[in-house]
Amino acid sequence: MGQSESIREALNFEERITLDNWVHRQVSISDYHSFHRESLERFEEFWAGVARELEWFKNFEKVVERGDYPNVYKWFVGGRLNLSYLCLDRHVKSWRKNKVALIWEGEPVKDDGEPLETKIFTYYDLWRYVNRVAYVMKEKLHLKRGDRVAFYMPMIPELPILMLAASRIGVVFTQVFSGFSAEALASRISDLGARYVFTTDGYYRRGKIVRTKEIADKAVVECPTVEKIILVRRVGNTETPVNPERHVYLDDLLKDVKPNTYVKPEEMESTDILYVLYTSGTTGKPKGIIHDTGGYAVLLHATMKWVFDIRDEDIYWCTADIGWVTGHSYIVYGPLMAGATVVMYEGAPDYPAPDRWWSIIERYGVTIFYTSPTAVRAFMRLGTEHVTKHDLSTLRLIHSVGEPINPAAWRWLFELIGGGRCPVGSTWWMTETGGILISHAPGLKLVPLKAGTNGPPLPGIEAEVVDENGKPVPNGVKGYLIIKRPWPGMPGPPTGMYGDPERYNSVYFSRFGYFFTGDYAIRDSDGYIWVLGRSDEVLKVAGHRIGTYELESALVSHPYVAEAAVCGVPDDVKGEVPIAYVVLKADAPSSAKIVQDELRKWVRERIGAIAEPKSIFIVSRLPKTRSGKIMRRIMKALATGQPIGDITTLEDEAAVEEVKSAYETLLKEISGKSG
Ligand code: WT7
Repeated sequence: MGQSESIREALNFEERITLDNWVHRQVSISDYHSFHRESLERFEEFWAGVARELEWFKNFEKVVERGDYPNVYKWFVGGRLNLSYLCLDRHVKSWRKNKVALIWEGEPVKDDGEPLETKIFTYYDLWRYVNRVAYVMKEKLHLKRGDRVAFYMPMIPELPILMLAASRIGVVFTQVFSGFSAEALASRISDLGARYVFTTDGYYRRGKIVRTKEIADKAVVECPTVEKIILVRRVGNTETPVNPERHVYLDDLLKDVKPNTYVKPEEMESTDILYVLYTSGTTGKPKGIIHDTGGYAVLLHATMKWVFDIRDEDIYWCTADIGWVTGHSYIVYGPLMAGATVVMYEGAPDYPAPDRWWSIIERYGVTIFYTSPTAVRAFMRLGTEHVTKHDLSTLRLIHSVGEPINPAAWRWLFELIGGGRCPVGSTWWMTETGGILISHAPGLKLVPLKAGTNGPPLPGIEAEVVDENGKPVPNGVKGYLIIKRPWPGMPGPPTGMYGDPERYNSVYFSRFGYFFTGDYAIRDSDGYIWVLGRSDEVLKVAGHRIGTYELESALVSHPYVAEAAVCGVPDDVKGEVPIAYVVLKADAPSSAKIVQDELRKWVRERIGAIAEPKSIFIVSRLPKTRSGKIMRRIMKALATGQPIGDITTLEDEAAVEEVKSAYETLLKEISGKSG
């Protein structure tokens, strides 16, 4: 289904479902709006109240103030806290000490299809493991507060453990998605200046072994700041030798570290960096988004309650990969701070059979399920029998994230997965926001469910939909989504974007003077926000952001390619997939197929499989305006077989003849030559 089509259909959602187990029928959305208005009127008091629910080593003196660079804010100034302490020590001191914190399931299965490995960690187990790893980091790797490390880790328990250990001693980390290439890893390591890279000897994906050590080896060749690669044992062997100068196994470092080792958590300033996570934009290299400690913790604490309605008896499962922000916030820090029981799964959703996820829900009795529209659409194709053979009656709450949810996917989640009992929301946020900002809030019992929308802005969040000039648009009119006030969890001090305060300011604030999300949205007459998708050229592939620039520069770095332009086209399952137009150098092979196969492989190696173009068109020139702007709408129209449409409004900068001739040239060139 095309994006615009799905949006149109989404806006026709007539269903308003109020569920007895969730919404008090007597409340109306206007009650929520008064509550929300009050939270903004008493903004600082409101957030201070939420923040006080956490445990601080030292109380904050000020809720929010301007930082040292434009549009960077300091939250809970003067306050000191530690995320590892909040996720672990606080529970270990309470009755939750022996409560299950993490249920991990590996991908491999036995002959009968049952999982081969399951690991269960209580809060006490996790706390002990994290302390030992923190000891290793501190005493054996000599890492100190403010140092940076990179994790290139798959979905195994050691990933959250490493994150919590780093946070315990104030070490800043970046986790790089384990599906990214050596090149993508190298650029992130260098930007951050990481001293160590933590990875595994490999991991399991769809029954095969992915060789992360070898990829990390390749990456660090270009990274002089890296002292060693620390290997976590997962598959038990490596393809290339382990070189004691370069590599050390974490379990060797842990061998003589006593089970009762205790490392005192650093008293971090609220404004200290917790982690940096890289995300793609429309221009330039990936941006290192900084998340602070205090503001981030407060937003996660609030949203675990409001959005997930988290309770002690819940078994909570977020299906994201911790390589993305969703996993940082809603697999690791959010739910563990809340003292929840978290399910974590290593592998592919359909391995060894299309019922793997549903078997997991049944096996552990999952009650809260957080997933993505892409995953849902992939499952919808596989048939309902894989779902119905499992008992999913433990579920009570479902949310999705990553892209707008199309009606069919919403219904599938609501009816088939949730059995018509569970509210199904679509939580809106982004890497930059740190946590959910716009969502239904089952935990507040004030927001009637409206199918397919994101919901109203959460308390303390001021969002608006505006036109080109930043003026609010009337309800029902499409505009740009902005966030008008700073919020806890926003990109943190000192610079918002790691090492680049100017870029932070220009990417997000130059257009409207407020934080610009990059999204199109509509606010309906109930004050619910419908995010419609990106207004810029950022691609959302399976819910993940892929920058056109990153892809284009990967393509032009190939010796065959002179010029390249990339855009997204709709895809039934992934929402959107990239396609590329390339102009070749004279000495490139004449066989289109050879070139296309080679470039696909190249992109997989340079960025990762997720960025592989669906089609590569070989053309003699790119559809550009005289001023050099690539006319991506033409590329899109041609690749999807759409008519070019009303060209007078097609490209702001292009003359009508220019557009026409670019279209016609391309049409002639690419007909029948797609790859
Ligand atoms: C972009 C951010 C935040 C976790 C995953 C994505 C889109 C995200 C929704 C939703 C409509 C959504 C937006 C946003 N998006 N959630 N519920 N409904 N659109 O993080 O990679 O930083 O991407 O994802 O376009 O700008 P991300």
